[in-house]
Amino acid sequence: MNTKQTIALVTGANKGLGFEISRQLAQKEIMVLLAARDPQKGTEAVEKLQLEGLDVEVIQLDVTDSASITTAAQQIRDRFGKLDILINNAGIYLDRNVQPSELDINTLQQTFAVNFFAVFNVTKTFLPLIKLSQAGRIVNMSSTLGSLGDTLDPNSPYFDFRGMAYQSSKTALNALTVQFAKELADTSIKINSVCPGWVKTDLGTTDAPLNVEQGADTPVWLATLPADGPTGGFFNSRQPLAW
Ligand SMILES: NC(=O)c1ccc[n+]([C@@H]2O[C@H](COP(=O)([O-])OP(=O)(O)OC[C@H]3O[C@@H](n4cnc5c(N)ncnc54)[C@H](OP(=O)(O)O)[C@@H]3O)[C@@H](O)[C@H]2O)c1
Repeated sequence: MNTKQTIALVTGANKGLGFEISRQLAQKEIMVLLAARDPQKGTEAVEKLQLEGLDVEVIQLDVTDSASITTAAQQIRDRFGKLDILINNAGIYLDRNVQPSELDINTLQQTFAVNFFAVFNVTKTFLPLIKLSQAGRIVNMSSTLGSLGDTLDPNSPYFDFRGMAYQSSKTALNALTVQFAKELADTSIKINSVCPGWVKTDLGTTDAPLNVEQGADTPVWLATLPADGPTGGFFNSRQPLAW
């Protein structure tokens, strides 16, 4: 059952960075499972990439739904017997420009549900399948906005950005990366956090300076790291970023 082909799963991949990461991985002859919570949107996205001749299939996955995660993992186990690359990409940014004192607790909880708890649940559920890979790679889509060092730096271009829910969810995600990296230190699995840069997507808005091709570069690099590549790090533009 264990296929020699490299299999990747990208969450929240029906649009934006997840879609472009799926494209770039498939261009490297990797078989990509494009995950979408809405199967219709996922199918439409897959059809676009298949028209480019790429090996991409849709899989239904709502990262906040444990049953959906378990079903997807079972489908991948039955079909491929392993998972090589997991990109925890699905994310939301609901509190742009909201001050902490104005933040609704429901927004905070909703943000953590997708950006943090879901990543934990997906990673934990898929880990047994990733352990069956020769060279498992996990990439967590974080943000410079989650860097405490950058947030405190008055010279940062993002110093005046506000969004405590989004920012702290990505800080927590970075902690998750470090904790899993420590547990997996003696395995061939690498897990890293990445900021793709500020990228033009529905989340990044049209104000962003980068396009999705640029934004996907470092996540794809981390997804395809060689055996001597880093683990437990936080990267932007293929360079380490302050925690
Ligand atoms: N764009 C930037 O400048 C930027 C910068 C730093 C980090 N990031 C991170 O990069 C990642 C991708 O962002 P993006 O800019 O590509 O955003 P985007 O265009 O808004 O896409 C977000 C994706 O996440 C999916 N999603 C949301 N909730 C989900 C759920 N419960 N289950 C499954 N999928 C879900 C969305 O699906 P639907 O279409 O169904 O809503 C969509 O496919 C995020 O983690 C984001 O925080 C982005």
